[in-house]
Amino acid sequence: MKPFLFVTDLDHTLVGDDVAMSTLNRYLEQHREQRGTKIVYSTGRSFTSYRKLTTEKSLLSPDILICAVGTEIYHQDSDTPDSIWSQKLAVGWDRALVATSAARFVDLTPQPDSEQRPFKVSYFLSEQAAVEVIPDLEALLDEQGVDSQIIFSGGKDLDILPRQANKGMAMTFVRQYLEFEPMHTVACGDSGNDLALFHDRAERGIIVGNARPELLHWHHANPNPNRYLARAEFAGGILEGLQHFGFI
Ligand code: GLC
Ligand code: MG
Repeated sequence: MKPFLFVTDLDHTLVGDDVAMSTLNRYLEQHREQRGTKIVYSTGRSFTSYRKLTTEKSLLSPDILICAVGTEIYHQDSDTPDSIWSQKLAVGWDRALVATSAARFVDLTPQPDSEQRPFKVSYFLSEQAAVEVIPDLEALLDEQGVDSQIIFSGGKDLDILPRQANKGMAMTFVRQYLEFEPMHTVACGDSGNDLALFHDRAERGIIVGNARPELLHWHHANPNPNRYLARAEFAGGILEGLQHFGFI
């Protein structure tokens, strides 16, 4: 068995079924010790909110932690994000202009301060309002010349990020940094902000059985043999997918 790069979302993907997660953690820890497999967490949460989760759940300590929907990359034992990545994202980004543009939309409710990050401006938005608000906001940001992208997840969270950052782009950066081939890399997710982990990718992808409709619709409309939709939920779905691809 070869080492592989394991990239996973946390909420509702790795985290959701404590029993299955502890089984998966045993496999991963053993693979890391014996073969040099690397473990990367990629979450929408801020570093602060991630730290809170670690006090509630028995997570392994990741080799690299990606926070705030791909916009911050933390190396092991560091609480300062990778500066090469931050510098890349600063190009063409104007956070203040993003926030004043978004403030024009009454349907957008700002998320808590802890989730507002240098390269991530986040709101709550209802699924009904999203249909109109997202295209209008996109058009306004374009008109203002902000190089950004909008990501809607879980039917309620709207993130505005620089064009060069999402979970997929951060995975490529980390994969190249750790020197893994795409075919020896696997990413797991359940919702809208994970779509970038699977879109047009040579890396293997696992969608857990409890995935959100936003991700499932896209998956069915864009078939790709590198992507596996598990029957099992949460960490059980990850285990099923790792076995499907022969990683474990
Ligand atoms: C996490 C973050 C939130 C973000 C959401 C979707 O819940 O805390 O800020 O909007 O993920 O990416
Ligand atoms: Mg999730």
